[in-house]
Amino acid sequence: APTIEQVANKLEKLGVHDFTAFPLANCAQNPLDIVRSYVCRELHKISGVDEKIIFPALEVPIDNKNGDLIVPIPRLRVPPKEHENLAREWSSSFPSGDASRFIETASAFGKFLRFTFKPSMLRALVIPQILSQDTLYGENNVAKGKKVIVEFSSPNIAKPFHAGHLRSTIIGGYLANLNEKMGADVTRINYLGDWGKQFGLLAVGYARYGDKEKLLNDPINHMFDIYVRINKEKENEAEKDPEGFSATDQEAKEYFKRMEEGDKDAVELWRTLRELSIEKYKKTYKRLNIEYDVYSGESQVTLAEMNEAISTLEKQGATFEDRGALLVPLQTYSKKLGKCLIRKSDGTTLYLTRDLGEAKKRFEKFKFDKMIYVAAAQQDLHFQQFFKILEIMGNTWAKNLEHINFGMVKGMSTRKGTVVFLDTILEETKESMHEVMRKNEDKYAQIEDPETVADLIGLSAVMIQDMQSKRINDYAFDWKRMLSFEGDTGPYLQYAHSRLCSMERNSGLSPDEYANANLDLLTEPIAHQLTRVLSMYPDTLLMSYRNSEPSTVITYLFRLSHTVSSCYDILWVRNQDPEVAKARMALYASARIVLRNGLRLLGITPVERM
Ligand code: ARG
Repeated sequence: APTIEQVANKLEKLGVHDFTAFPLANCAQNPLDIVRSYVCRELHKISGVDEKIIFPALEVPIDNKNGDLIVPIPRLRVPPKEHENLAREWSSSFPSGDASRFIETASAFGKFLRFTFKPSMLRALVIPQILSQDTLYGENNVAKGKKVIVEFSSPNIAKPFHAGHLRSTIIGGYLANLNEKMGADVTRINYLGDWGKQFGLLAVGYARYGDKEKLLNDPINHMFDIYVRINKEKENEAEKDPEGFSATDQEAKEYFKRMEEGDKDAVELWRTLRELSIEKYKKTYKRLNIEYDVYSGESQVTLAEMNEAISTLEKQGATFEDRGALLVPLQTYSKKLGKCLIRKSDGTTLYLTRDLGEAKKRFEKFKFDKMIYVAAAQQDLHFQQFFKILEIMGNTWAKNLEHINFGMVKGMSTRKGTVVFLDTILEETKESMHEVMRKNEDKYAQIEDPETVADLIGLSAVMIQDMQSKRINDYAFDWKRMLSFEGDTGPYLQYAHSRLCSMERNSGLSPDEYANANLDLLTEPIAHQLTRVLSMYPDTLLMSYRNSEPSTVITYLFRLSHTVSSCYDILWVRNQDPEVAKARMALYASARIVLRNGLRLLGITPVERM
């Protein structure tokens, strides 16, 4: 990003001689903050209202039907009776038109001040900034110096990777990227469900039906097959027995006990299964452009760490015993929290206890400013209890933990309707996408590596579908809609991106040629409209950072793509006056950069041809 001196120099060249950035503005990275700083200053001069009050009240609405920048007078803490008068008064004395470099019109509408931007200034600020910042456009410094942990995906080894894990992976991957873009130092953690009684069962199953070769070839499916088979066996036994006893289950319990006691052989098999699973997961994550810093897991929490948590609670007098089990009564804080079990009567530990131990360990290791857990809304209660208990234990950092939840995916099954593994879904998506592409023979023939392209478009279909509405909403997995090139889908965004790429290839203009284009040739209103949308990208990322909603960015990218698409009929590049062509190419290239940056941030690899 340019330094603030460079910003001032640039403004000097644009005829602004007395620019001062508002201290909290981010003028180096966000061109709109330059405009906001200016408006803030001028409005302060006219109104006498403190700049600290004005600045946060300057709204750049997504839609500019009612103006490019709006100030609700009530937010300026002036007497209510005067709101409308002041709006009129201030708008008429605000410099605009020939008297201002930034503002075209200033007007009053009820209790609102409305401004429109000067198109010439906006494009001079926005387009060169995008072209020069390139992959970095959108960055921010709000989280600079902050250590942020994002825990996401966290599948359970030996059980299917279900839709909940898919959502955690996709949403978590995005939030991790976003925090980085906002300047944070991010650590990505995968907290595997790799401990517990089910492992004992799996091990017993492996001893009976395991096959080394199958395990090495396809560990996840092989383990799952064993898991299903041994579970059935256990249930059959229990059904036949008058007391519901199962010898297999008993064996599993004993096996797990040996694991908890650190028995060498027991732990060895578990380690192999875990490592093979991780290897396999890594490949899937790579497809989604995700790489973890840490593969942690329930198994990594030691008995000592859990006991420490338990004894802290006991010392606070925060526990009670019931038939040998240990519980924490939380209903005194809130009825819905109820009481939680933290140690079973047989002495074995629980999911919750492991989370307590793990959180403390992470804090000691990373001293994080914020830690985000991305997990399904079905676990809302778990996280509320877990955070509350950490607080009771006296951990002041408990307030810096956040559970980012999400709704369910309905009907996510393979086309044959069997159990879902993420990999299978991604393979099927790729194949279906490939089929769709084949239908357009001419185009298909031009694609160099259709398989890879089909995979990338397929992945974007799954990811956009997952993140396009508010996280908390459930959604139905809809093959047909998701893979369509029309409507707001992943393939549509990929198409918009590849069209911008092809336009650039066909223009015959190189980045050096259009970098210094005369932007004043972009006189059409639609060009201004597109510039305005482009100017909002940094604001959009900031908003998404604040609400942790991927949909904020996706809605923006659709808006951007639709605006670009309305430009095509009007802003031609080929066979135009060379200077006009360069200016338009600079605008289109800026749109391509923003669309690409947005897709990459979401974890999607944009395609250049399709
Ligand atoms: N493995 C868990 C599951 O699949 C999710 C883990 C969520 N993270 C946590 N720290 N509890 O349900």
